[in-house]
Amino acid sequence: MTKLDESQHFAFAMVLFLGRDLAEYRDMFNLDQAELRGKRILDCAAGPSSFACEMYLSGFDVTACDPMYGGSLEELLAICDQDVQKVGQRQQKAARLFHDYALSSEFKNRKSSSRRQFLADYIEGKESGRYVRASLPQLPFADQSFDLVLCANFLFLYTPLASGGMLIEDRFDFDFHKNAVLELMRVCRGEARIYPIKGPHHDEQHDYVERLFEDESMREFELMVDSVTYRDIRHAHHMLRLSRRSAE
Ligand SMILES: C[S@@+](CC[C@H](N)C(=O)[O-])C[C@H]1O[C@@H](n2cnc3c(N)ncnc32)[C@H](O)[C@@H]1O
Repeated sequence: MTKLDESQHFAFAMVLFLGRDLAEYRDMFNLDQAELRGKRILDCAAGPSSFACEMYLSGFDVTACDPMYGGSLEELLAICDQDVQKVGQRQQKAARLFHDYALSSEFKNRKSSSRRQFLADYIEGKESGRYVRASLPQLPFADQSFDLVLCANFLFLYTPLASGGMLIEDRFDFDFHKNAVLELMRVCRGEARIYPIKGPHHDEQHDYVERLFEDESMREFELMVDSVTYRDIRHAHHMLRLSRRSAE
């Protein structure tokens, strides 16, 4: 296989700790807030996103989980700062892979304000169990605890560069993805939504998506690809939706 020039790509050694806001979540997942009232929602791989905080302030029931939620406020702040810098520089270099919005100062400003809101809510949210330290493919929640499970900007994105993803290292292979999706569905009694379903380096959806559609382990679920309005990575205009098939 030809060696890829990593400096020309948007690829990293680690998963980035960056977060989007409620309006961005609405666009990534076609969310209709009115329909979410009274539902129990999980945001998995939530990072420093303000989605959980903004929803909580409006009276919604959202739990956010991420492996980084064990860290102190100072540690998380330092990682956020470092990752915002890293992304800004690399995104400009790889501008061809993104929509204008992702290269704009609005995008950057919204990441900062989302991170600020998350950090201001972090300690209280951790104490009250709204922020939970957890890593896929094993979540510390009971079976079918959530009506809606969201997972944004982690699965199908942090896969090896050669498979179209954003990781320099070979982590998060197909088996990881399959087990992660099964785990999201274990804790879900309604629907799980995953965005995006491709990385920045290939135009088509990630081949793991097609493999999931064909995988035996998914036979009890209905899988569906839907268009969304969010515009960040070019051609990343779809999410994957999964729900349990009703018994016949
Ligand atoms: C780019 S952030 C996405 C944050 C947010 N969901 C969003 O869309 O803005 C990716 C997150 O995945 C988290 N992560 C890394 N490994 C994970 C794992 N095994 N299970 C769940 N989350 C993981 C990282 O800590 C990071 O916060």
